[in-house]
Amino acid sequence: MSTSSNVAPNDLSAFWMPFTANRQFKKSPRMFVAAKDMHYTTSDGRQVLDGTAGLWCVNAGHARPKIVEAIASQAAELDYAPAFQMGHPKAFELANRLVDLAPEGLDHVLFTNSGSESVDTALKVALAYHRAKGDGSRFRLIGRERGYHGVNFGGISVGGIVPNRKMFGTLLTGVDHLPHTHNLAKNAFSRGEPEHGADLADELERIVGLHDASTIAAVIVEPVAGSTGVLIPPPGYLQRLRDITKKHGILLIFDEVITGYGRLGTPFGADYFGVVPDIMITAKGLTNGVIPMGAVFVSKDIHDAFMTGPEHLIEFFHGYTYSGNPIASAAGLATLETYKEEGLLTRGAELAKVWEDGLHSLKGLPHVIDIRNIGLVGAIELKPIDGAPTKRAFAAFLKAYDQGLLIRTTGDIIALSPPLIVTESQIDQIITTLSGILKTLE
Ligand SMILES: Cc1ncc(COP(=O)(O)O)c(C=O)c1O
Repeated sequence: MSTSSNVAPNDLSAFWMPFTANRQFKKSPRMFVAAKDMHYTTSDGRQVLDGTAGLWCVNAGHARPKIVEAIASQAAELDYAPAFQMGHPKAFELANRLVDLAPEGLDHVLFTNSGSESVDTALKVALAYHRAKGDGSRFRLIGRERGYHGVNFGGISVGGIVPNRKMFGTLLTGVDHLPHTHNLAKNAFSRGEPEHGADLADELERIVGLHDASTIAAVIVEPVAGSTGVLIPPPGYLQRLRDITKKHGILLIFDEVITGYGRLGTPFGADYFGVVPDIMITAKGLTNGVIPMGAVFVSKDIHDAFMTGPEHLIEFFHGYTYSGNPIASAAGLATLETYKEEGLLTRGAELAKVWEDGLHSLKGLPHVIDIRNIGLVGAIELKPIDGAPTKRAFAAFLKAYDQGLLIRTTGDIIALSPPLIVTESQIDQIITTLSGILKTLE
């Protein structure tokens, strides 16, 4: 198959790239032109091992035949069907397969096109649910410091990453935040769940005390905070959030955009931690990252609260032109089949020990102040250069790319999340390459 590997774009200025140092990139571009299984091909013909599953999304690896075929044949058969007041079979089939896979009690699915849209959908469902139940005074949303819930206004309001919020005015009102659980002094170099910090969930009681439960609609957290640099919850923390929200009639929303679809070695983070939320947000791995799609799971109780009034009326005034798009639905079905056939949703559990041992072998290398791991997620936190935060980790990213490895950095944290098809020898390659890089960082 021919690729366009030798075709260089002649002008890079028009595309204002997302979450990218545009000026640095355009002086020294890094272009992928093809991908297969665990590797990207660069425009200069090099192979780069994917240590990040794209952006935490290509869980089954790249260009998987079943998914490629499903997209091609769906595009030829039914390319688009209106999402409002019309249906097509594959969206219903996908919703059914997803509900079968989800933790018990999450029986209904709303489709979106991204994690960010899924977050705002979930927040709107939560607010409207209370109102539908005659409890419209519950308008507050509680997020968490360092939380990442995408980039739309709802998501950045409940999110807790400062640069993502500070430029954008007043955001949503009526939002409060739990403290994050990151504690280097007590938990550095923990393997798996860190010992200290479950009591931080009790801060929710303080917030409830301040605002009164009757004003709070929902609490939203990532089971494992990913984009902020992999913050793993202490044992019991999520269960405490579940207990407190239940006690006060507050909905618990898990944002599983990263932890969904096998990343932790279980289908969802809810399965890993044994805590079932009222609403579960997913995207990314749902279609293996190939076609934009998100799915928001809600409980029967939430769904049924809307199913009242005259039957000819729309029950929930929300949706997207591309909700349940036929090609995305076909990609989702083929992705779920691929996960099932290859046991990928639990493969992370089989590899977790090798992954953990490999990562923790980097302890003691220069500038490494913490290493964290869970399932097939890892993070290496570096001491920032005085006066130049993020520069050290970014240098590691550039060196890794030159040496044939894709990693991701956020602040001074290197985050790793390879596709779930990664082999033990590829894990070895990731660790060996990183070890060499860490030894040479300024
Ligand atoms: C937990 C979480 N929520 C939401 C999002 C936003 O997803 P998207 O970039 O598809 O809008 C992300 C993306 O990384 C995420 O990690």
